[in-house]
Amino acid sequence: MKYDQLIIYYFSGTGNARNAAIWIEKVAKEKGLKTHLINIDRFKTIDVPELSEKTLIGFCSPTHGFNMPPIVLKFLAKFPKVKNADAFILNTRGGLKLYRFFIPGLSGVAQLLPALMLWYKGFGIVGMQPLDLPSNWLLLHPGLKKKVINSIYERCHGIVNIFATNMLDGKRKYKALLSLPVDLALIPISLGYYLFGRFFFAKTLVATNACTNCNVCISQCPVEAIKIVDERPFWTYKCESCMRCVNSCPHRAIETAHGFSGLIIVVVYVLLIPFIISILKYYDILNIEKQSKLFGQFWSLIETSIFILFIFLSYKVLHFLMKYKIANRIITYCSLSKYKFWRRYKPPKY
Ligand SMILES: Cc1cc2nc3c(=O)[nH]c(=O)nc-3n(C[C@H](O)[C@H](O)[C@H](O)COP(=O)(O)O)c2cc1C
Ligand code: SF4
Ligand code: SF4
Repeated sequence: MKYDQLIIYYFSGTGNARNAAIWIEKVAKEKGLKTHLINIDRFKTIDVPELSEKTLIGFCSPTHGFNMPPIVLKFLAKFPKVKNADAFILNTRGGLKLYRFFIPGLSGVAQLLPALMLWYKGFGIVGMQPLDLPSNWLLLHPGLKKKVINSIYERCHGIVNIFATNMLDGKRKYKALLSLPVDLALIPISLGYYLFGRFFFAKTLVATNACTNCNVCISQCPVEAIKIVDERPFWTYKCESCMRCVNSCPHRAIETAHGFSGLIIVVVYVLLIPFIISILKYYDILNIEKQSKLFGQFWSLIETSIFILFIFLSYKVLHFLMKYKIANRIITYCSLSKYKFWRRYKPPKY
C-alpha cells in the first residue's frame, strides 16, 4: 500500500468542497488508511498531525475568481515545509447543467498557484483534480434546482471515487492540466479579481428588515468578516463572498443589493470618472486621449481604485440607509435575491 495515512485540509463556503473531502476520506477509510479531515475556517495556527513516511496530504477548496480563495492561499503560504510528502489539490468549480449537458466551471490559477506553493514547500504533487459541483455564486444567479443539484452531485461523486481510488493506489492524476491553455489565459482576470473584484463583491451584501440580530451569520462566517455596526450586521472587506452567510441566515434576511450596486457602477463610470477627466482636460493638467497605450492601462488602474474607494464610502451610506424602514424596503425590492425565484443554494449533506 502506497499510503497509510490521509490528511485533508478543506475550506468550503456552502458545502461542496467539504462534501468532496468527505468522499475522498470515505474511500481512504475503506482502504484502511488512518484519516484526518481538518476544516481551516478561522485558522490561527496550522495543525499538522504526526506524519508517517506514507502520508498523503490533500487540499480541497472552492474556486473563487479563477483562483483559490484568499483564506486558502494564506493557509498554504503559512504551511510548514515538509520533506518528501505527497499532496493533492481538489478545487470545486461552478458546474451547471443545461438540458442533459453538464457545463464545467473554470479553474484559472486555482490549481496552478497552490501546486507551485506546495512544490516550493517540498511536496510532490500526485493529484490535481477540478470538480464541477453546482455553482453557488448567488450574487450572480439563483441557486440551482434540487433535481439539477442531485444530478450534478451524482456525476461528481463517481469522478471523485475514481480519482481517490487511483491516487491512493499510487497512480498520479493530473486532470486539471487538460485545461491549461484556458487557465493561463485567465490569469489577468484572476489577478483583477484578487486585487479589486473581491472587494466590490464584499460590499454587495446587506441585512434587510427581516434581520432579527440572531448573529448566526457572524458565527458562521469562516473569516470573521461581519461585524455589528449600529446594531446591524456590516460586511467588511474581509468578506470572501463564500455565500455561507447568505445560505445560512434562518430568516432569509441577507440580500445582494443588486439595484444599489448597479447604481454605484453607473454613478462612478458614467458620471464621476468622465467628470474627473473633463476637469483634468479643462485645466490642461492631463489629456487622457493623447496619452500612450501604457498610460491608458495605468489610468484603468486609477479608475478601478476610484471605484473601490467609492464603493467603500457608498457601502457606509447604504448601511446607514438600511436603518430606515422605507429605504430598507426600496433597497430590498431592488435586489433580485429578494424574489422567490432567486433560490438559496442547498447542497446535499453527508
Ligand atoms: C465569489 C465566488 C467566485 C467564484 N468563482 C468561480 C470561478 O472562478 N470559477 C468557477 O468555476 N466557479 C466559481 N465559483 C463557484 C464555486 O467555486 C463553486 O460553486 C464551488 O463548488 C463552491 O464550493 P463550496 O460550496 O465548497 O463553497 C465562484 C463562487 C463564488 C461564490
Ligand atoms: S443570520 Fe440573518 S437574521 Fe441573523 S443576524 Fe445575520 S442577517 Fe440577521
Ligand atoms: S461574510 Fe458571508 S459571504 Fe463573506 S466570507 Fe463571511 S460567510 Fe462568506
